[in-house]
Amino acid sequence: MNAPDLNPFKLTTLFVQELEMCRVKPGTRIVLITDLKTSHDYVSAAFAAAEQLGASIYEIKISRPFNNNMIASQGGGDTIAGLPEVIAAVEAADLVLVFHVALGSDWLQNARKRGTRFLLIIDGPDELERLMSPPGLKEAVTYAGELARRSREMVVTSPAGTDFRAQLGKLGTVIQYGYADEPGVVDTWGGAHFSTWPNPGESEGTIVLQPGDYWILPYVRVFEDEVRLTIEKGVIRKIEGRGADRRIMERFLQEHRRGPQDTDPYCVSHLGWGLNPNSIIDQVTLVGNQIHRIASHTRAWPGVFLFSTGPDDQGGGNNRNPAHLDLPMFGCSVALDGRTVIENGQIVDPRMIVKQTAPLRVAG
Ligand SMILES: [Fe+2]
Repeated sequence: MNAPDLNPFKLTTLFVQELEMCRVKPGTRIVLITDLKTSHDYVSAAFAAAEQLGASIYEIKISRPFNNNMIASQGGGDTIAGLPEVIAAVEAADLVLVFHVALGSDWLQNARKRGTRFLLIIDGPDELERLMSPPGLKEAVTYAGELARRSREMVVTSPAGTDFRAQLGKLGTVIQYGYADEPGVVDTWGGAHFSTWPNPGESEGTIVLQPGDYWILPYVRVFEDEVRLTIEKGVIRKIEGRGADRRIMERFLQEHRRGPQDTDPYCVSHLGWGLNPNSIIDQVTLVGNQIHRIASHTRAWPGVFLFSTGPDDQGGGNNRNPAHLDLPMFGCSVALDGRTVIENGQIVDPRMIVKQTAPLRVAG
């Protein structure tokens, strides 16, 4: 594993900046939900930052490690589901910092409805510094999310043969701009994308994953071979390809069926794109299979189209199958209700373009 470049003593400064963006003030009540893999440096930095800002803070550590690649086998972060006293503490907090992916969990959804705001912290120190929300990102992501929310059709094409359309409007849209500043929001430090769920059963066409596109979940790798997905009525009906990627994908989806006729793992899930100009495009080729160094960079890359499969319950649907593929695709064009917003992987709507504030967009 590559050691982080960031001086660990800078972490407190980063946490102060991040907590200030999360509107932490004197008297704010903060709870950390950590696990056996959470960095002690992060906990110490959060404590020091909260003290500096006059907030109260304490840690609840769950008694096992959490593997952020394997959300499928961990119930989408149901880590405290059987612990009512912990849930009560979460619901009493203003801000909860969760150090694993908890997005599919009922405890998080219930607490947010009561006003608790959540910030997931999953990335490594270098990524937290590099991807900290730049000026204008919140406005750009909010605008993109609103556009998706109001649209009724998304069309995605690419020179490689992607030709896909999804009907929108029946399920939800969620946005992430990198900090949790409003009651009930759930965000990720380093997050810079939105997710909209297509109407169940109402997406059609072809998705062509090309060599150089990425997997984030459940594996962290670069596609080495072309994989062609044929989608009918919201379900992947055919997976074609000649290499390892096709075989890995087929096996993963097949094994998550709950019976021979179960199509839930094959359903189209959230769609969206990234907007952070400071993300690095070749991170996975630089640092390899390290989810905490890849996940936010690849989802946040401006103009990357994120295609995913499996559960849609986070968007209000009924599919709770835990098999979840997150597949960022480069070079796609995207139109909402006939209006092009991304052309060959570049954002063309000026309201979604955020000024770059960190050097280079490749490994430096
Ligand atoms: Fe996802």
